[in-house]
Amino acid sequence: MPRGFLISLEGIDGSGKTTQARRLVRWLRRRGVRARYTAEPTGSEVGRILKAMAGRRNVDPRVEAMLFAADRLIHLEKVVKPLLEEGFIVVSDRYLHSSLAYQAASTGDRKWVEELNRYAVKPDLAILLDVAPETGLKRIKRRRSRFERADFLRKVRENYLGYVERGELVRVDAERGVDEVFSDLAEIVESFLEGKL
Ligand code: TYD
Repeated sequence: MPRGFLISLEGIDGSGKTTQARRLVRWLRRRGVRARYTAEPTGSEVGRILKAMAGRRNVDPRVEAMLFAADRLIHLEKVVKPLLEEGFIVVSDRYLHSSLAYQAASTGDRKWVEELNRYAVKPDLAILLDVAPETGLKRIKRRRSRFERADFLRKVRENYLGYVERGELVRVDAERGVDEVFSDLAEIVESFLEGKL
């Protein structure tokens, strides 16, 4: 059976990942492709701990980094791999590069975060919806977690852009309207599916 593909959508808070990921899944389905939306942090036991911790102060960023990596492996084994084996295109709203950007920023140790995530298979295509922290924060309005601060998000964005430079992430300018952003996103996915990326 042909193996599917894992596409991840990345970006700082308020970059519009969820809207675009859901739209991408609908677009793929209309084209007759079997596609599934999924997201991290997940609804697993570990994911629930992470969501509870997001609202708390004085959380050790190293502990959090380990939990994100653990939640990712559970997600991979229980959800992503079985779908890929069935030939689905899996669209993940955040994946590996969220840790490489956020936890590298919070722990200051990118190498260690990469090591922690060694067993998370690389996505086949990873896309960065790139916005300035000010734009992201304006879109969120309601501040929900420690992660949603301009100075922190600036570091996270720099980390993401580092992976764009290294060729691991494809950047989309997400400062524009939903339709314009989606049209770029769809073009990238189309090129990828045609084997051009
Ligand atoms: P997010 O997808 O933004 O959740 P919501 O749907 O509630 O907006 O993720 C919640 C927070 O978790 C977000 O601020 C980013 C952070 N996060 C990490 O720091 N590392 C990770 O590996 C992941 C998956 C998320």
